[in-house]
Amino acid sequence: MTDKRTSPVAVFDSGMGGISVLRELYRLMPNEDYLFFGDSANAPYGVRSVEEVRALTHAHVAHLLEVGAKAVVVACNTATSAAIRTLREAYPGVPMIGLEPAIKPAVEGNPGGRILILATDLTIHQGKCRTLMERYQNQAELIPLGAPGLMEFVEAGKFHTPELDAFLRQLLAPYLADPVDAVVLGCTHYPFLQADMARVLGPRVRFYDGGAGAARETRFLLEQGGLRNRPDREGQITFQNSDPSGVHLELSKRLFTL
Ligand code: DGL
Repeated sequence: MTDKRTSPVAVFDSGMGGISVLRELYRLMPNEDYLFFGDSANAPYGVRSVEEVRALTHAHVAHLLEVGAKAVVVACNTATSAAIRTLREAYPGVPMIGLEPAIKPAVEGNPGGRILILATDLTIHQGKCRTLMERYQNQAELIPLGAPGLMEFVEAGKFHTPELDAFLRQLLAPYLADPVDAVVLGCTHYPFLQADMARVLGPRVRFYDGGAGAARETRFLLEQGGLRNRPDREGQITFQNSDPSGVHLELSKRLFTL
């Protein structure tokens, strides 16, 4: 029987955004092995139906468990919104960590402030985000904004380009006239665009994402389950992507080091 402690932690996303979470996991637990799977061939998930996203997520998680993952980080707010509950029901013995928009730390850091919640349309309309918004609506002005078309810039590796700048200026125009204090990056692709957003919104705006929190939760669940690897080793990272061309694989490795 294999010793589960030496198995990899699977990290799943609709594309390459989950690498922003993988970076946090590796920072916190560099001795663990990671298997990152990006479903770029089927991205974006954020414009699909809940049923489609749930089916895709279940299929990929089933595969990641078949190849021996000891835990799964669903490093995608959209897939988490659609499938984390049914995944936990299907695999009760497996640590299953999801991502949620970092509304709580944003509100706590900016009480009474104006906070933009940037996510996919699916995430914004699903239960988790709505519950969080209801919980904190009396403590800050929360402004949800779906951003179809935005994750595509990360999938194409188009950072710091005039095209991205124009897209962001149009998307964020209302918050230039009437500024916000903070932005919740409620999609795991968006941390890669933070510098571009900061250039548009100005240096005063603070950004919050859920990556570090998800990494801490993963560590907690691995420790609780007696699933941590040996501390004195260097973890290996394996990248996989459903895009057969190899383009996304190359970009995945580059994003990890950004
Ligand atoms: N990375 C995903 C998230 O965190 C979404 C991108 C997509 O639309 O596929 O929500």
